[in-house]
This record gives sequence, C-alpha cells and structure tokens, in this order.
Amino acid sequence: MTHFLDINKTSPADLRGIIDNAATMKAARAGQPKGTPDADLSLANHMVALIFEKPSTRTRISFDVGVRQMGGETMVLSGKDMQLGHGETIADTARVLSRYVDLIMIRTFEEQTLLEMAEYASVPVINGLTDRTHPCQIMADIMTFEEHNGPIKGKKVVWSGDGNNVFASFAHAAKQFDFDLVFTGPETLQPEAALDGLYTTVRDPNEAVQGADLVVTDTWVSMHDPQSARERRHNQLRGYQVNKNLMSKAKDDALFMHCLPAHRDDEATSEVMDGPNSVIWDEAENRMHAQKAVMRFCLGK
Ligand code: CP
Ligand code: NVA
Repeated sequence: MTHFLDINKTSPADLRGIIDNAATMKAARAGQPKGTPDADLSLANHMVALIFEKPSTRTRISFDVGVRQMGGETMVLSGKDMQLGHGETIADTARVLSRYVDLIMIRTFEEQTLLEMAEYASVPVINGLTDRTHPCQIMADIMTFEEHNGPIKGKKVVWSGDGNNVFASFAHAAKQFDFDLVFTGPETLQPEAALDGLYTTVRDPNEAVQGADLVVTDTWVSMHDPQSARERRHNQLRGYQVNKNLMSKAKDDALFMHCLPAHRDDEATSEVMDGPNSVIWDEAENRMHAQKAVMRFCLGK
C-alpha cells in the first residue's frame, strides 16, 4: 500500500518523480478549460473520498477538480457528518471506507487519526493537513519554486514566523530535496524538537533572510491553535512580518510564498503578497497539479 503521509516517509526519488509528473501533466493541459478531462484519464472508474475535519478552500477544491480531470469521482465528506464524528472508531471507518472507495484523503487534527486511518485502510491514504504537517502543500511549493527559479537543491529557504505544521513539512523537504532551511521566529514558537537537525535558527529576521532564494510565511494562528492565544501570538510574531523592508534583504530574485489563507498585513503585507516576487497564486494552482501526481503515485498510475 502506497500512502502519502509525510514528505519524510516518501523517498527522494519518488518525491522527484511526483514533481516531474505534476509539471508534465500541468503543461499537457495548459490553456484548456478547467473541466477538460486529461488525455489519459488515469483515475477512470476510481472513487475518491475527501474527508475534512477542518475548513478548507484550496485542498478541497484542488483535490476535487483534480480527480475529475483524471476521470475519477469524488465524495467530499465532513468529519462531523460522518459517524466518525460521533464515536465510531477511525479503524472501523477506515475498514468500511476501503470497501467503497479507491483512495482516501483526510484533513484532521491529531496526526494519530491520519496514522490510524492509514493503518486500517486497505486503500491509499493521503495527508491533507494535520496539526503537525501539510505535505501536499510543500509538494506544490517545491514545484512552484522550480518553475520560477530552477532546481531547489542547494538553495536557501527562509521561514519567518510560527514554527507550525507547514514549517514541519518544509523541514522534511529540506532533507529530501537537499536545500538549506532557516527558521526565524520567536523562541516560544520554535518548531517541535523532532525537527531538530533539519534546519537552522537565526533569531533576527533581517539577518536570517540575507541571501535567501525563497521567503515563506504562514498565518500566525493556525486552525488547531486556540483563539485565546491570538493576541499573545500576534505580539510575539509582529517582528517577523514579511514586508518590503525584509524582502529587500533577500536576493533580488527571491520568491515569496504563503500557503494561504493569509491575514493580510499581519504575517505579510499586501505590498509583498501582491508584489513582483510573490508567487502565491501559482502556488495555489500547483496544489492541484502536485496532488494529481501524488494520487497517481499512490495508485501506481
Ligand atoms: N493552503 C491550504 O491548505 O488551504 P486550505 O486550508 O484552503 O485548504
Ligand atoms: N498552518 C495553517 C495552514 C492552513 C493551510 C493551519 O494549520 O491552519
């Protein structure tokens, strides 16, 4: 069974294959209406369950449209509308779903839910974000970087802000794709210890971004963070806002990325988000192409 659970659980060669396949598939359908079926319909007759226990715009729609382009069918399910949200175990849900669908994508809270789903499902399971990681996002980010600035190997990527789930997948990617990752953020929001050794920390953001090829940030309050922590987090993170001044310290052709949704003028200014170095819309589009390649990989297509 080939699941896609985390960047560090898939080999560098397979990750590279997924990115290359995504780029090929994207090029093959350039300029066509979004509903145009792919030429090879690699998911024909396949049923895909998309389970969301948290809100989503990009993940939900990019998976849904991507499956349809490949000739498959989707069911978008809310965790709370399923018995899963009312006491049925994850293991039993996984066993039952495997009798109906060919692939499961789940966005959930605890990583354990994802891991249990994968353990008991007899079809591939894809991680659509947990409190700890967001691997599909980073596949799209790598693809986007390489589209604009060539191979990411050996490049300097700087993450400014909260050491959260999206950062964690960047840290896994730094090892698998062999780039340098710098974290700049407050000590109180340092990434989890399990990621030690995958990145370096530079506390001063102005120093951290020097020579950066890519500057990345994310929301200061993630979906799994309590709203009561909002003000405290804002106070801790204010100094790590990505603004024009900070971007001016990076390389001239440095890219700016944000997985979105953004809180404009908090973690990044609109001037940067809408500026010449920003590739956030390509990044969002590439979610779909990258995930199509992930699904093909999982299904051996
Ligand atoms: N970046 C991302 O995963 O967005 P959604 O929460 O809208 O899916
Ligand atoms: N860190 C954010 C990412 C959203 C796509 C969150 O988990 O809410």
